[in-house]
Amino acid sequence: MRIAETADELARGVADALVGKVSQGLRQQPLFSLVLAGGNTPRALYLLLAKEYRQRIDWGRVHLFWGDERYVPHDHPASNFRMAYETLIAPLNIPPENIHPMPTDAASPDDAARLYEQELRNFFGEMPRFDLVLLGIGADGHTASLFPDTSALEERKRWVAVGEAPVEPCVRLTLTLPVLNAARTVYFLVTGADKAETVRRVLMENAPLPAALVQPEDGELVWWLDKEAAGGI
Ligand code: 6PG
Repeated sequence: MRIAETADELARGVADALVGKVSQGLRQQPLFSLVLAGGNTPRALYLLLAKEYRQRIDWGRVHLFWGDERYVPHDHPASNFRMAYETLIAPLNIPPENIHPMPTDAASPDDAARLYEQELRNFFGEMPRFDLVLLGIGADGHTASLFPDTSALEERKRWVAVGEAPVEPCVRLTLTLPVLNAARTVYFLVTGADKAETVRRVLMENAPLPAALVQPEDGELVWWLDKEAAGGI
């Protein structure tokens, strides 16, 4: 667990850690696979990476994936791809071949999930073992688009599933727990007092919430919290 005074300090702490992880990874392998989180929390981190930290990561050797996506066009205001494109990808001019967005224009969401699985198989050849996964958490304890009491949360064979959110856009695509738990490193980024109770339940009571099920089998798990989100622990 890492606790920062403010959300901006949190973003800076994560950016510093990310620089370390990427340079460490690229000393041992040609490419680094990074899974981006959606929602609002990661915006501050992406903006920081694209500006102040732009020279500190070899983006030509980093491949970007998504932990989840809303099943809307990539230019839709709710698209996680669009948020990352505007804050990180366009400003850094990351080469298109390094970007692996979840498709949201397939014949069906299930077809899109299978297409993304194929994309992961093409890149990893086998079970995806991401170098670093960024995740957020909702007040209901969901992470990525693994919402409580949904089939996506129960999925243990497929790598990508169709998620069902209780709020619009309800149809999602999401990496499943087996993939998240195969990662080398998982960072949860959580800010704000509205998440404090959920964070307390997950970290102090191991409540049966989706985010509590993210336990990398052979990897590092770090909860990056600002003081407000850490208010309950
Ligand atoms: C999404 C995210 C989701 C997000 C949480 C927290 O597509 O919405 O992947 O899991 O991380 O809902 O969202 P905020 O960062 O906006 O609070």
